[in-house]
Amino acid sequence: MFVVAGLLALAGSAAASVLTSFTSPNINVNRELISDISSGCPTNGTASCGKPAGTNTCCFETPGGLLLQTQFWDTDPPDGPTDSWTIHGLWPDECNGSFMEDCDPSRAYTNISGLLTAQGASATLDFMNTYWKNDPDDGTDEELWEHEWETHGTCYSTLQVDCLPAGSPKGAEAVAFFETVVKLFQTLPTFTFLAAQGITPSSSATHTLASLTAAVKAEYGFTPSFDCDGDDLSGASYYFHIIGSVIDGTFVPIDAAESGSCGSTGIKYLPK
Ligand SMILES: *[C@@H]1O[C@H](CO)[C@@H](O)[C@H](O)[C@H]1NC(C)=O
Ligand SMILES: *[C@@H]1O[C@H](CO)[C@@H](O)[C@H](O)[C@H]1NC(C)=O
Ligand SMILES: *[C@@H]1O[C@H](CO)[C@@H](O)[C@H](O)[C@H]1NC(C)=O
Repeated sequence: MFVVAGLLALAGSAAASVLTSFTSPNINVNRELISDISSGCPTNGTASCGKPAGTNTCCFETPGGLLLQTQFWDTDPPDGPTDSWTIHGLWPDECNGSFMEDCDPSRAYTNISGLLTAQGASATLDFMNTYWKNDPDDGTDEELWEHEWETHGTCYSTLQVDCLPAGSPKGAEAVAFFETVVKLFQTLPTFTFLAAQGITPSSSATHTLASLTAAVKAEYGFTPSFDCDGDDLSGASYYFHIIGSVIDGTFVPIDAAESGSCGSTGIKYLPK
């Protein structure tokens, strides 16, 4: 199921060829960051999952160097704007199909809203309140944010506390994480990608996985993976390597390295 072997063997050179062949620029998510934290890391180095010249784990994401920006399409109950997918998270994978999870319980911050507000990231928080939604059956949005940080965010080597500039406030690395996820998500409008190829929500139409994947590829240049709840489309994941730090690095898009849970035919993209 996981088809990353060839990719891994080629990781260094594959990343380099992506850099030159992708028709849109790579994604520097944090050039307009609200917070003024800078990693100080070069962004012209080796992409994650490739072999670094010297291993400065504050500037080279490892071992979780395969990053998935995961999204929800929630219809039951409907959640978030009717014309947008919503954020699930940004997950580190150890370049081989294994997710890193729950890496540092001592940094399982609570009151993410308060943290963002106190550190000048209220615009990010406003966006999250609309686009980073928990399934109401599962809990509050705040609980989803805490979970995403604790489970996934604490695993990034480039977001360890000793990577931050001296004097950074407590939780600054989590603030940077949320800002990065929001900025990256804003470059990945799945609803718009699909709609531009004539695929819009419908209670009756069915789609093949290949047609959904091809639609996003046509608009974005790379394939995501899609997840389904039964036959109903429910999620998407976009794959990246990163050059530099999750704080302010360059995200290098790649085709999905893994299949999602959708079957190949009969997929419904239901309205919210
Ligand atoms: C990255 O940029 C720095 C500063 O411009 C330069 O000195 C260095 O040689 C570059 N490294 C690579 C791998 O291109
Ligand atoms: C992936 O690599 C890590 C070490 O980097 C290892 O601990 C883990 O077992 C590997 N997982 C798989 C599925 O090969
Ligand atoms: C959350 O953090 C904010 C800002 O630091 C603070 O004013 C508020 O009292 C906190 N709320 C809770 C429930 O701890």
